[in-house]
Amino acid sequence: MKTVIVYFSRHQEHTKKLLDAIAAEGDVTLYDVMSAQPIDLNDYDRIGLASGIYYGGFAKPLLKFAAERLPEGKDVFFLNTLGSPHGDYFEPVRVILEEKDCNEIGAFGCFSYDAYGPFKLAGGISKGHPTQEEIDGAVAFYRGL
Ligand SMILES: Cc1cc2nc3c(=O)[nH]c(=O)nc-3n(C[C@H](O)[C@H](O)[C@H](O)COP(=O)(O)O)c2cc1C
Repeated sequence: MKTVIVYFSRHQEHTKKLLDAIAAEGDVTLYDVMSAQPIDLNDYDRIGLASGIYYGGFAKPLLKFAAERLPEGKDVFFLNTLGSPHGDYFEPVRVILEEKDCNEIGAFGCFSYDAYGPFKLAGGISKGHPTQEEIDGAVAFYRGL
């Protein structure tokens, strides 16, 4: 089964840490959504969308990419890292999946050190995350898909 994970990981590359551990497991393509390299998602059976949470949702470039480039009828899963949970961050991307008749097959999220804006003054939140246990959790999630 061909799998690609399309990701946006720019703040501290914490989301990418999870993805690198998943990629070390075997046959999965990682595609940086900001990359200039062309990619055709039709070539893949399973598509992951992964991002840090920015202002309450997936990074805008990833949402835009999903809206424009996600083929219809695919199996899709989500991964995210975030500073502190407040609500359902997957809602906007689920709307895109519904429009494209795609099937959500799983979602994984974990904490990540966040020193953005006001949190910087307080020394940041969720220090030390993602932990090795959380990274292993992401790998176990992927294996279980
Ligand atoms: C501009 C900005 C906005 C953020 N907004 C949120 C947010 O709304 N909720 C949250 O829990 N974390 C928020 N964070 C923390 C990030 O989700 C967290 O650091 C994440 O791990 C970043 O992923 P990355 O290092 O893979 O880019 C924000 C971080 C930045 C830089």
